Amino acid sequence: MFTSIAHAYDLNNRVHSFGLDQRWRRRAVEAAAPVATDDVLDVACGTGDLAEAFARAGARSVTGLDYTPAMLEVARAKAARSGGAPGRIQYIQGDAQALPHADRSFDIVSIGFGIRNVADPALALREFRRMLRPGGRLVILEFSEPTSAFIRFFHRLYTHHIMPWTATILARDGSGAYRYLPRSVQTFLDPRHLADQLTAAGFSKVSQHSLTMGTCVVTLARVTS
Ligand SMILES: C[S@@+](CC[C@H](N)C(=O)[O-])C[C@H]1O[C@@H](n2cnc3c(N)ncnc32)[C@H](O)[C@@H]1O
Repeated sequence: MFTSIAHAYDLNNRVHSFGLDQRWRRRAVEAAAPVATDDVLDVACGTGDLAEAFARAGARSVTGLDYTPAMLEVARAKAARSGGAPGRIQYIQGDAQALPHADRSFDIVSIGFGIRNVADPALALREFRRMLRPGGRLVILEFSEPTSAFIRFFHRLYTHHIMPWTATILARDGSGAYRYLPRSVQTFLDPRHLADQLTAAGFSKVSQHSLTMGTCVVTLARVTS
């Protein structure tokens, strides 16, 4: 599915978030507060926008991991085109549920709009916990359903009945990806259950911030030992 939309993924994000998606990623980076000695693993990095935001914020190294080669190709082409901070990024293919690194390899693990696509999120959260050094942070950026019934009505109208068609046309997609994506938001764990799963995976100090009328949530969790 992601192979068939990779070429138009960034364009669709900008158009269908009304230009807000990069701001949401910057808010996730700010929540994780990277410093110059931090090594970052961005899981389900897709075309690399969140990984690039971490590199620009001054992290020492950023590893972007995804299992769709077509998404990684776009990410690598973007990194090659831009000089400066994105030069600190390397992209690798891998599975969020079986990460290829040794325990405690990173200071920050991030996942943007990706955790709801992972088949076994609880397993992925345990892997993220395994990756982190003491004092490490996990930041999860994910779509959410607005809590206000009034806003939820218009949000559903847009995400279920308008965006699937316009995004499919922009991507010239025949896979049905943009009909699946809004359904996956509705069926994914709500923020409270995600927080419970983080605690079960060994994280502490879980905090959550809603963005843009509750359409997006940044979740930050820490490891203490
Ligand atoms: C909606 S995109 C998000 C891309 C990017 N993080 C962003 O901010 O736009 C979801 C990505 O998750 C990846 N993905 C889904 N399941 C995965 C898994 N088990 N392991 C690694 N990547 C996965 C897909 O290949 C896709 O690139």
